[in-house]
Amino acid sequence: MSYSYQIRTEADYRTAYQQSVEDPEKFWAAVAENFSWKKKWDKVLSWNFEEPKVEWFAGAKLNITENCIDRHLSALGDKPALIWEPNDPNERVRVVTYNRLHKRVCQFAQVLLNNGVKKGDRVCIYMGMVPELTYAVLGCARIGAIHSVVFGGFSAQSIADRLEDAKATFIVTCDGAFRGNKDIPLKSVIDDALIGNKVVKKVIVYTRTRTPVSMLKGRDVWWEDEMEHAESQVEVNGVVQQEAAVMDAEDPLFILYTSGSTGKPKGVVHTTAGYMVWTNYTFVNAFQYQPSDIHFCTADIGWITGHSYILYGPLSAGATCVMFEGIPTWPDAGRFWEIVEKHRVNILYTAPTAIRSLMGFGTTPLEGKDLSSLKVLGTVGEPINEEAWHWYNKNVGKEKCPIVDTWWQTETGGCMISNMAGVTPGIPSWASLPMPGIQPILVDEAGKEITEKDQHGHYKGNLCIKAPWPGILRTTYGDHERCRQNYFSTYPGLYFTGDGALKDQQGNFRITGRVDDVLNVSGHRLGTAEVENAINMHAGVVESAVVGYPHDIKGQGVYAYVIMDQLHEDAQLTRKNILQTVTRQIGPIAKPDKIQFVKGLPKTRSGKIMRRILRKIAEGETKNLGDTTTLLDPAIVEEIAAGRIVD
Ligand code: WTA
Repeated sequence: MSYSYQIRTEADYRTAYQQSVEDPEKFWAAVAENFSWKKKWDKVLSWNFEEPKVEWFAGAKLNITENCIDRHLSALGDKPALIWEPNDPNERVRVVTYNRLHKRVCQFAQVLLNNGVKKGDRVCIYMGMVPELTYAVLGCARIGAIHSVVFGGFSAQSIADRLEDAKATFIVTCDGAFRGNKDIPLKSVIDDALIGNKVVKKVIVYTRTRTPVSMLKGRDVWWEDEMEHAESQVEVNGVVQQEAAVMDAEDPLFILYTSGSTGKPKGVVHTTAGYMVWTNYTFVNAFQYQPSDIHFCTADIGWITGHSYILYGPLSAGATCVMFEGIPTWPDAGRFWEIVEKHRVNILYTAPTAIRSLMGFGTTPLEGKDLSSLKVLGTVGEPINEEAWHWYNKNVGKEKCPIVDTWWQTETGGCMISNMAGVTPGIPSWASLPMPGIQPILVDEAGKEITEKDQHGHYKGNLCIKAPWPGILRTTYGDHERCRQNYFSTYPGLYFTGDGALKDQQGNFRITGRVDDVLNVSGHRLGTAEVENAINMHAGVVESAVVGYPHDIKGQGVYAYVIMDQLHEDAQLTRKNILQTVTRQIGPIAKPDKIQFVKGLPKTRSGKIMRRILRKIAEGETKNLGDTTTLLDPAIVEEIAAGRIVD
């Protein structure tokens, strides 16, 4: 396979960028020629950001799994699509070739059909990182069912909320999942999530951990039995056949829930053709992927990074991906390096939080590990601090691997601002230049473009995007108005990212972090309101306010100020109880790092919590808290500052 659109030099980048902006339709039509279509599009792009309505390749017909699998089979059938590295390094590695992937995906697609799943139905997938998760996701795409993958760390309550929001009728899960020395009972979490649920018709359970599970007659079926039955249906005389559903370019491909600044997580919807083109294009170009490269993206498929850069981007490019079941620190902090050595990884894509946590173990775990196969390193999920960048560059890349700092979001489908490995310069802690097709703009609170530089020669403002790219979200499931309000109403005519950024005179961007009430904890997005709602569910809690503070490893930690109607004398136990409630409501990833019990919160006369002050206190600033005269009760600030929780 050739990538005729692959950018090789900085000059190529400049040309591609210019073309993409001057004539987006022509540019993306040319890129789209590299895919397999059942019918080509009538119109490349039509859009307005008022509704918003965005359509890419309207009128085209395709199936994304044919682009990710079938079209590779004649040339690459025996090439590994996935190299699966188990949690336990002593367990056997599984290599899934494109031929095998084809067979399994077809089989699972048939299983879904056999169980009554139809095009457009929502299928919730709650599994560990096993190859079967890939079959489940692609099996949905093959028949046109909409997958909604939920990360294995979310609680039963979170799953119940997502099931209800998506009106999902089917679930695919595992008995359990191995993560480090833990065994997570996924099926039993699903059982809890399904109490009172009358909508889910079938639960398909794959056996991974052999944890005892309850199987409800008529509802729960075993993956293995279903697959065996389907095998004889799709394989006739040794030939695997399963007709892929014909999908419209704008048919929804998946829903992925993500946190925003208000309310419950929202279901970001991506559609078929644009998302495919975008993930493929960004994968090939940002990482400068070459056909023999082994790509290792350490993300979980429960997050957008796994969707786009373990599955759809690499597979549509015919790449080989390492899929890792475990965690970076188990059995020891050398695990990533061992995997790189064992599978001769060429591209390593991970999160700053993982790098910082491994930094904490020093360089001993790296000793004796042969990392010479590495060519390109990448980071995603949060701003990378310079120290971590240099550590990664020196100890992992041995100063010979470009690092791509890819800025993007669940809503953007794929990389938006990033250097291209070895092609455009990488600058520590700068995401750098927009990908072709991306027109970023920095605006002030009123939506006016920033035209004045600050004292460092940077433009500084809220990051927006002026025009659609193929991977932009199309809606939030079941609530289009919410999509409009969240992303398109703050600055009319622009997509608002929720991030703040700097721009230098060469046009490089540095993302400074969220400017809304969204936290980024170990690369996971959490809404402060979401965490507050969970805390407020706890008996005795009157009110709470949650803010982020700088955390050495997690990037941001969660600091909660909580008012109790009466404080039990064992405050430590109350804290633990609150953590239990949060774990039940959302999942362990949302647990506050610090809980301070307070008598009141700093509020304006109109009742608005002054988060600015709480943030400063959480950051350790207890003196210069700014103007507090507009507060209802200025004295409360001193009291809170005095009671601040120190590490
Ligand atoms: C942050 C993850 C700085 C940002 C793909 C964004 C980053 C949020 C970077 C989206 C980066 C992601 N540099 N910040 N390279 N990448 N972010 O939806 O705040 O889980 O808005 O998508 O992560 O997180 P999400």
